[in-house]
Amino acid sequence: MKELLARPGFLAPAGTVGADVSYLLALIFTILFLVAWRLAKRGQGTRHHNLILVSMVSMVLYFCGYYYARQLGVLSLESEEGFGGPVEVYNNVFIPILTTHLILVTLGLVMAIYMLFQGFRASEKNGGEYRLKEEPLNVRPKTFKMLYLIILGLWAVFVAMRFGSMGKVIAWTLIFATVAGVIGLEKLIERLLPNGARRHRVLGRATMIIYALVLATSTATYLMLYVIYPAG
Ligand code: HEM
Repeated sequence: MKELLARPGFLAPAGTVGADVSYLLALIFTILFLVAWRLAKRGQGTRHHNLILVSMVSMVLYFCGYYYARQLGVLSLESEEGFGGPVEVYNNVFIPILTTHLILVTLGLVMAIYMLFQGFRASEKNGGEYRLKEEPLNVRPKTFKMLYLIILGLWAVFVAMRFGSMGKVIAWTLIFATVAGVIGLEKLIERLLPNGARRHRVLGRATMIIYALVLATSTATYLMLYVIYPAG
């Protein structure tokens, strides 16, 4: 598999099959999300919901596969190996763009999962069509407590399973702390945007903008690595 991904690509002379496939998939997912935004704007709640679900699940699967099979960018983040341009461009342009890209991807994944749950909570199905409910949307204190207990329990299980490796324990602790932090943020979000429908529209638009920026930064990274400054 690794050999296949390392073969010469089809988009740019210096690209690899892995880089080209992952860039094309990133392009397709972003377009799917933007189409889902258009559907929502037109009031087609159910088609919006279906398309979001399909693209979200495929995007998460792709991320897992991508992370497992190759680490584009991660190599070039650690060292200049893989980047053929001048050191100043590497330090002042490439690294800031790549770091922004990685932050946006993480933020986009967290927001996608949050928005999925929020979408279900904020809408109701009426005559076969999903509609956002124009009313306050709050998580009950009892639900909050239960969510925290579940996270604590899962964290304990994961840490017990990875006990030999300190790096993995720290990584899982950070992941669970992020989830706990996002759930904690919900209280603040409820205060700032009490109406569930408005919350979905405001945070949904912010999420869509993040996806558009992810595409812009991945295009810039791809161009710099494989078209403008290929290694060697
Ligand atoms: C990653 C997840 C999601 C994102 C980023 C997202 C984003 C958005 C955005 C930006 C809008 C407002 C469009 C506009 O006026 O500009 C919207 C509307 C809406 N969303 Fe979502 N959404 C997500 C998931 C969901 C889910 C899971 C559901 C249903 C279960 C849902 C149901 C709706 C409905 C019913 C509307 C209103 C459409 C109308 O105005 O009639 N969304 N969404």
